Amino acid sequence: MRRPRSVETADVEGKRVLVRADLNVPLAAGEVADDTRIRAALPTLQWLLDHGAREVVVASHLGRPETADDRERLSIAPVANRLRSLLADDRVRLLENTRFEPGETSNESGFARELAEGMDIYVNDAFGSAHRAHCSTEGVAHLLPAYAGLLMLAELEHLGRLLGEVEHPFVIVAGGAKVDDKLAVLENLGGRADRVLIGGKMAEQMREHNPLSFPVELPVDVVAASAFAEDAEAHVATVDAVPAGWLGLDIGPATAEAFGAILREARTIFWNGPMGVFEWSRFAAGTRAVAEAVAAADAYSVVGGGDSVRAIQEFGLADRVSWVSTGGGASLELLEGRDLPGVAAIPEG
Ligand code: 3PG
Ligand code: MG
Repeated sequence: MRRPRSVETADVEGKRVLVRADLNVPLAAGEVADDTRIRAALPTLQWLLDHGAREVVVASHLGRPETADDRERLSIAPVANRLRSLLADDRVRLLENTRFEPGETSNESGFARELAEGMDIYVNDAFGSAHRAHCSTEGVAHLLPAYAGLLMLAELEHLGRLLGEVEHPFVIVAGGAKVDDKLAVLENLGGRADRVLIGGKMAEQMREHNPLSFPVELPVDVVAASAFAEDAEAHVATVDAVPAGWLGLDIGPATAEAFGAILREARTIFWNGPMGVFEWSRFAAGTRAVAEAVAAADAYSVVGGGDSVRAIQEFGLADRVSWVSTGGGASLELLEGRDLPGVAAIPEG
């Protein structure tokens, strides 16, 4: 895989540095609800400060603003406050939500020039947004000497390991609802895996028809529910005994046991997507069992994608896997074997 040049090769002494970070974090009641991405951006900012940068201007989008109301709701101010509390240095300044500029997402040169104005160097550390060709992630890289930040490099390194020679057994676990988004990734990676375990809504679709060029393991039992509701009537059923019109909202205990046994023997694991509706505790056991088995395995284990990351964090197991990716869509596109525009725009290292 192509490696963009590292910020560590840049001479930043006395320079004004524009940093694109992915500080697109969840908000609740106007406050930062999860600051994982803000913390993940700190090492690069600290590196720049330690190496004498005169000014560090940070840019990020927040959400997908469209209306005038969104402009208020999606102001970057709460993120700026959290960043300041984690890294107090007068040389650091966070720009307002880049997506408030209409030119940002269409990658118009005007806004890219505005971002570059007065800056000496550009550092892209926004791995989570590297699949977007926007002004702040791509356009500006053509206007300033461009480098990759430390998080960007770490993400490429860890996820890149799955694209190279891996230790076997290599087990992939996939689930979640966005089936079509994930099929290309599975096709690209799955042929190299020894086992591909499928849960969640994806399994229902695959049972009808497996569009992949290799076999997959599907659940033998599910937690069947009478409706898509937290308090729905529910019981464990083998897959051929799910009452008509009922939904499988989690994998069942026999499947959890079988998947767990396979995962515990694995030497390489990629997990993307929960096994069921884990946000509701009655349907969380299957996802929890998978998370526990991934954590227990003596394996190089990578968890990517927003929901599975949230799950492993809520179960308190994030520090027992090898790498938790800050990228959802970006990690999937990378594993599909696609070039990420935000990476491609940085000269090779
Ligand atoms: C993400 O959260 O996936 C990234 O920040 C990209 O956001 P986007 O899907 O709105 O471009
Ligand atoms: Mg482990």
